[in-house]
Amino acid sequence: MTDKTGFHIDVNGLKAVSAAYSMYIETYGCQMNVNDSEVVASILAREGYAVTQQMEQADLILINTCSVRENAEQRVRGRLDVFRMEKKKRPGLLVGVMGCMAERLKEQLLEEEKVVDLVVGPDAYRELPQLVRNAGTGQKAVNVLLSREETYADICPVRMDRNGVSSFVSITRGCNNRCAYCIVPYTRGTERSRSPETILDEVAGLVTAGYREVTLLGQNVDSYRWQNGHVVSFPRLLEKVAAVSSGLRVRFATSHPKDMTDEVLHVMAAHSNICKSIHLPVQSGSNRLLALMRRRYTREWYTDRIEAIRRILPGCGISTDIIAGFCTETEADHAETLSLMKQAQFDHAFMFKYSERPNTPAAAKMKDDVPEKVKSRRLQEIINLQGRLSAESKQRFIGKTTEVLAENVSRKSPDELSGRNSQNTVVVFPKKRYAPGEYVQVRITGCTPATLQGTAE
Ligand code: 5AD
Ligand code: SF4
Repeated sequence: MTDKTGFHIDVNGLKAVSAAYSMYIETYGCQMNVNDSEVVASILAREGYAVTQQMEQADLILINTCSVRENAEQRVRGRLDVFRMEKKKRPGLLVGVMGCMAERLKEQLLEEEKVVDLVVGPDAYRELPQLVRNAGTGQKAVNVLLSREETYADICPVRMDRNGVSSFVSITRGCNNRCAYCIVPYTRGTERSRSPETILDEVAGLVTAGYREVTLLGQNVDSYRWQNGHVVSFPRLLEKVAAVSSGLRVRFATSHPKDMTDEVLHVMAAHSNICKSIHLPVQSGSNRLLALMRRRYTREWYTDRIEAIRRILPGCGISTDIIAGFCTETEADHAETLSLMKQAQFDHAFMFKYSERPNTPAAAKMKDDVPEKVKSRRLQEIINLQGRLSAESKQRFIGKTTEVLAENVSRKSPDELSGRNSQNTVVVFPKKRYAPGEYVQVRITGCTPATLQGTAE
C-alpha cells in the first residue's frame, strides 16, 4: 500500500442496460471515497449514466476529491487542468467536483477553475441528477450542504472494484472527534450510523454476487451505534456481519484508540472469518503532542491497547498512521514517536508530514512552527524505522503457512496470484490450479519489504 491519498481508481466493467450517457469517475483519498463513488455511480445509473473507463468517451467527468492533506488537493488541481484540455476539445462535456474539496472550496472552485460545471459535497449526492441537469443547461450547479441524517442507507452501490472478490461497505459517515489537525469533521460533517438491517442486506447481496471479503468502513468504527428500540453497538454489528456467511472474510477500518474495547477484540477472537488485523492510528508517541492534537488518549493508554491486542489476538496485524512535525513538536517528542513505534512493532504504517488545514482547531489556535526541513527529516527517520519494522514483520512469516484469499492475477506475472492473509499482508504465489476468489494455504518462502512470497500447499 502507498500513501492513502495516492489511491486512485479508474472505473470500469459496468454495463448499464440501455445507458444513454457515459460518466467517468476518478477517485482520490480514502476507501470511504471509493465507496462514495460507487454510491454516486448507482444514483446516476438510474438517470441513464453508465460508467466508462475512457475519459475521452465520457459525457460527464466526476472527480471525487480529498482534502485531508495539502498535497491531495494539489493533485486534484493538476487533474482539473487535464479535464480543461479535454473540455476544449469537446465543449458539451460536463465536469463535476465531488467529495471533501467540494465542501471546502464551493464557489471558489466554480470561479477559479472555469472548467468546473458542478460541485457536490459528500452529503448531497442524491441531488446529483438535478445538478447534472442544471449544469447541462449552462447553469452552475452547487450543493454542499451537510446533513445530520444522510447515510445513503438504501442505495446499493455499483461495485467498481475490478476483482469481484473484496468490497467495502460504509457503516458510519462523518466524524465527531475534532482532532486538532483534521479537516474531516468540517468536510464530512457529524457522525451518523447506518441501520444494521441495510448493512446486513448489502453484505448478504455481496455474498450472493460471489464476493469473499467485506471491509466495514467508518472514520471511527468503534463509535458505531444504532438505536431504534434496541441498541446495536460495533461489537454486536461485527458479530452479525460475521454470521452472514462463514465463507466471507470481514475486515473493518478505522479504529480509534480511545474507543477500541476488549469486547471488539473478543468478538474478533471468537469468529475465524473476522480478519486478525487492526488499523489503529497513533499519530504521535508524545503525551504532550497527543494532548495538543486532542486525541483524548495517552501513550500509556495506547500501549495498553496494543498489549490487549497481543494478548487476546496473538499474531494480529497492527497498522497505524503517524504525523511528523505537528505544531511545537520538539526533538524529544519526535524521539518518543520513534520509541513508541519500536515498542508497538507496527506491521505497516501510513506516515505523513503535518500540513495545516484551513478551519481546523490547529489552524485557528496553533502555529505551524516546525520548519519544513525538520519535518522532512523527522518523517524520513520515521519511514526508515518503519521500513525495518515492516521487514521484520514479513520475516516472521517465513517458513510458516498462511491462508490467503486470492484476489488478482499478479501485475508482474500472469502465472502468479496475489492476495492477502488475515493479517492484511500481501502474498504472491504461483497460480497453478487456483483462481481469484479462492482461499489458498500458502507456505511462505521469501519476502520483499512489502510482500510475502510462497507456494500453494
Ligand atoms: N496533516 C498531516 N496528516 C494528516 N492526517 C490527517 N490530517 C492531517 C494533516 N493536517 C493524517 C492522519 C490521519 C490520516 C488519515 O491522515 O494521520 O489518521
Ligand atoms: Fe480525504 Fe478524509 Fe475526505 Fe477521505 S474523508 S476523502 S481521507 S478528507
